[in-house]
Amino acid sequence: MSSPASPRSTWSNRWAFILVTIGSAVGLGNIWKFPYMAGSQGGSAFVAVYLICVVLIGLPLLMAEILIGRRGKGNPVSAMLNVAEETRSSPWWGIVGWVGVVGALLILSFYSVVAGWIVDYLIKSISGFRVETAEGASAAFKALLANPLEMALWHTVFLAMTVGVVARGVISGIEKANKVMMPGLFLILVLLTLWGGIAGDMGAAWDFMFAFKAHDLTPGVMLAAVGHAFFSLSLGMGAIMAYGSYLDRDSSIASTSIWVAMAGTLVGLLAGLAIFSLTFAQGLEPAAGPGLILQTLPLAFSHMPGGQGFAIFFFTLVLFAAWTSAISLVEPFVAWLTERLGIRRPLAAWGTAAAVWILGIAVCLSFNIWSGYTLFGLNLFELLDFLTSRIMMPLSGLAIALFVGWAMGRHSVVDEMQLQGKAFEAWYRILRYLAPLAILLVFFHALGWLG
Ligand code: TRP
Repeated sequence: MSSPASPRSTWSNRWAFILVTIGSAVGLGNIWKFPYMAGSQGGSAFVAVYLICVVLIGLPLLMAEILIGRRGKGNPVSAMLNVAEETRSSPWWGIVGWVGVVGALLILSFYSVVAGWIVDYLIKSISGFRVETAEGASAAFKALLANPLEMALWHTVFLAMTVGVVARGVISGIEKANKVMMPGLFLILVLLTLWGGIAGDMGAAWDFMFAFKAHDLTPGVMLAAVGHAFFSLSLGMGAIMAYGSYLDRDSSIASTSIWVAMAGTLVGLLAGLAIFSLTFAQGLEPAAGPGLILQTLPLAFSHMPGGQGFAIFFFTLVLFAAWTSAISLVEPFVAWLTERLGIRRPLAAWGTAAAVWILGIAVCLSFNIWSGYTLFGLNLFELLDFLTSRIMMPLSGLAIALFVGWAMGRHSVVDEMQLQGKAFEAWYRILRYLAPLAILLVFFHALGWLG
């Protein structure tokens, strides 16, 4: 066991940690996935349950992951093993760390491809790309999917951008990148939402997202919202654990987590309002599915005065958000390679990139040349998403709740959490009972056992 007292670099201050954790949480999940999920899952019903889930399940698990990371002072695998050893729990808990480390890389392989689409659309926007009709917009997107070389190129560029930061190390690379990018992201997003208020139909967007309609509230919508709360807060994959391991003892885990959850949710809601107000103003369909951003928005941009500048702003924002999230997907494994095997950070980072790059190339091909190769009717892209979001994430989130709630023992948890009274009791009970039960429901639903 590496001693918790061994010198280990930490974030320069609490705000730096909050900033990078927000950077991890806010990504394609909030800006690309949240609007299309809300758009196709009953709008306000989804949004309402999602918000409740963020508070009741996501936030407590966020605290639990930071707690394990900081107590274990290491990459997710070592952190789980260290805390398990300290609390005389089984070393089998280390598997949770492994599931996270490997799962994060699997997510990254397709996340990087989708982020590559964003790079592609950013470049297109800069060079004056316009679409006049819905058919034109969907043809442009289909043309991209049919072109493995173009996708592979931008996937490569995005992955290199990501690993370039990780290779320089957490403090000098990740923290510096986030310090510049996150405030920029907020600024662009606020401008974008203001623009949505001027050029779009903010009233319709507001109604769609917040005028609660009880009849849209089905078990399917509820479970989809639980799952998305997970993905959007980067939970269950060791990313938050890895970042938490660089947090010093003096920072309060609870208030830090509240900041992260609030800021992350705010970004998602702002993005939703901006996107839906534009979508509605153009008479477009909110339930367009995963293609919502890349098919519907370019059309809206093309019909709007100043649309080109707007498009460039928007795709830059999405790219920044995806970048800071992707960094947190690489860090857990790179931390393991450097801490456990003693491999130098740049080598560990670029070696990891090579493996992810190859899988990502296969993902690019799964949309075209290899689209015929499927398993359970899913191509490689869909399969990786299914495996990570529906199987690995819920299971490892469940394990993390059980580990902190039952295995660690109250004494260690109280000592690390530094939270007293009713707030502690509520959090602890949620981890012991509510979160595991809710996650099990999501899991059984995802596998179709609950219909
Ligand atoms: N939360 C990010 C998003 O919304 C994606 C992400 C980054 C993630 N790190 C993660 C998801 C770890 C699950 C686990 O885009």
